[in-house]
Parts: sequence; structure tokens; C-alpha cells
Amino acid sequence: MAWDPAQYLKFGGERLRPALDLLARVPLDAPARVVDLGCGTGSLTRILAERFPGAAVTGLDGSPEMLAAAQKSAKPGETIRWQQADIAQWRADPPVDLIYSNAALHWLSGHATLFPHLLAQLDRGGVLAVQMPRQHDAPSHRLIDDGMRAYPYLAERMKKNPRPAPVGDPGFFYDVLRPLASSLDLWETEYLHVLEGADPVPEFTRSTTLKPVLENLDPGDRDTYMAGYRAACRTAYPPRPDGRTLFPFRRIFIVAVK
Ligand SMILES: C[S@@+](CC[C@H](N)C(=O)[O-])C[C@H]1O[C@@H](n2cnc3c(N)ncnc32)[C@H](O)[C@@H]1O
Repeated sequence: MAWDPAQYLKFGGERLRPALDLLARVPLDAPARVVDLGCGTGSLTRILAERFPGAAVTGLDGSPEMLAAAQKSAKPGETIRWQQADIAQWRADPPVDLIYSNAALHWLSGHATLFPHLLAQLDRGGVLAVQMPRQHDAPSHRLIDDGMRAYPYLAERMKKNPRPAPVGDPGFFYDVLRPLASSLDLWETEYLHVLEGADPVPEFTRSTTLKPVLENLDPGDRDTYMAGYRAACRTAYPPRPDGRTLFPFRRIFIVAVK
């Protein structure tokens, strides 16, 4: 799907905090080679470069739109290498010391083979640090599916351009990674985002999980679909008396040391 950097960055603050929480748990002082998988607009890649000043840092993403936005905001003297590639096909040569991936790997399927593959791209003692949403059971995501039922043609169309599948639970990742890792840190956090404005939950999901649905709907059906989704979100996440909306959002964190 085509990513929209501006819409994604509207909730930059809410999306930044889990990324920093993940980085805070990376047990490395001076990795030589760092890769940010699914780097998007590159704001976290730059934070990685600042956190590890001696490292060769690569930001890798499949979206030309996101990489163009990343390159456009380059700072003078910056040495980050930007690479357009599919994470599923990516191989590190030579092996890297840190693979960091925030809010990206849930877009890929086959985690039972992908995660061991990523661990195999690390040097000895290297770290795989991943954060992904686990929001599929929450109203924000279930209501997207509920609305889709009125448009049966979507099922066939979305085979090419699917919504992310539900991310496995911590037990799944424990079983996949524990035999391969010298240490494994797994946790979940439910953030309570305090959102402003009208219908902020559909605004939040519009740049990510809702996007493939909107892209596959016939143009004439989009407004009707969105009106129904907005109304359902208003009921599920009613504005507080001060006009703001509380939006609980669950995320899983994985830090595996090879
Ligand atoms: C939600 S954005 C997250 C961007 C950034 N990591 C952040 O947290 O701000 C997800 C990114 O993953 C990228 N992505 C998704 N699937 C990918 C794949 N198979 N290969 C490369 N990049 C992918 C998208 O292009 C998008 O930029």
C-alpha cells in the first residue's frame, strides 16, 4: 500500500513513546552496525544514530514515499544510509549488531520463520529489538472488520493488499525465540493515548491499519464506510467532558540477545 507520511506523523508523539521505551531496553553501548527495519520517515533512525554515534546506521523501508520523507529531512553531516528493500527478503552482509524495528513487523506474515531469520542476521551478542501493536481485539480494529462485512467484494481485493494479521501473544514469541536467544525480554504495555479533535480514533487508524481498506473500497463506498466507522468509534470511545478522547492501545515488546 502507498504510505502517507504526513497523516502518519499527525500522531507522532503517541507513536514515539513506545519506540523510546523499546530503545531504553536495548542492552548495547556501542554497536558497530545498526539497522532500523521499516524505518518509515526516519525519525527513529536519527534517534538511533544519536544514541549510537559510532555506529554505521541504515534505515530500511519498502515505501518510496516514506524514504523520500526521511531523506528530505536529512541533517547536515548525517551519515545514515537509506535503503529501499523488502524486510522479508533482507539479508545482512556482514551480520549486524542491532536490528531495531518499531511498528513495522506486524505488516509481515510468517513470524514463526521471520523472527529466527532476523536473529540469524545478527552477530554474536547482537540484539533484535521489536515493538508491534497488539490491538486487533480492541474496538478500533474490530470495528474496521465489522464495517467491511457490508462490502463483500473487499475480501477478494484485499488478498493482494491485506490488513496486518493479528500479532502473536508473548507466549508465541517466547516459544519461537527462547531456543535461539541467550536472553529474552518480552513485555506488553497498554498506553492510554489522550487524543484531541473530532473523531480522533479513525484519524489515528487512517494512516495505518485502515488504509488498505480505504484503498480497496470503491470510491463511492468510502464515505459511507467512514461515516459508519466514525459513528461506531464515537460510541466505543466517547469524548470525555473536556472534549478529549481516551484511546487505550496495546503493544508488545521483544528484546532478544543472540
Ligand atoms: C507504521 S510505519 C513505522 C515507521 C517507523 N518505524 C516508526 O515507528 O515511525 C511502518 C513502516 O513499515 C514499512 N514496511 C511495512 N512492510 C514492509 C516490508 N515488507 N518491507 C519493508 N518495509 C515495510 C512501511 O513502508 C512503513 O514505513
